[in-house]
Amino acid sequence: MEYSEKVMDHFMNPRNMGEIADATASGTVGNPVCGDIMKIDLKIENDIITDAKFKTFGCGSAIATSSMATELIIGKNTAEALEVSNKAVADALDGLPAVKLHCSVLAEQAIKKALKSFYEAEGRMTDELAEKFKILGEDEHDHGDDEESADEHACCLHDD
Ligand code: FES
Repeated sequence: MEYSEKVMDHFMNPRNMGEIADATASGTVGNPVCGDIMKIDLKIENDIITDAKFKTFGCGSAIATSSMATELIIGKNTAEALEVSNKAVADALDGLPAVKLHCSVLAEQAIKKALKSFYEAEGRMTDELAEKFKILGEDEHDHGDDEESADEHACCLHDD
């Protein structure tokens, strides 16, 4: 499996790893296929994301995408951060192997989950905004019934 230099760089030297003690909002999501978990903390001041940190229990691609995703959203306002798609994260890493694209979905979901809780806490959720959080609903299955699909993909960066 071929990984870009950027993926390897962000995997070996992840940016913004850790937690924000006084985070404004946090989002934790899990991948029901592989069981990997990602948490993103956001510090939001005057609607600008001034800091973002992540903790990822997962494969190298999940770590690289978390790292890149935090870099992409720091300095953006919340509306701009909402537009950061998994494709944008993967493109910023010069691409991911097709079987690892689902790892970048985790990063998009973690950001959106944190932003959803932020908008809800602020009383700013609207029908239009709710549309943008549909990606969260699509992946909230129980892990229990999907166990067989865990064999469908190679799970780790370091498996060659
Ligand atoms: Fe689980 Fe990448 S997120 S294999």
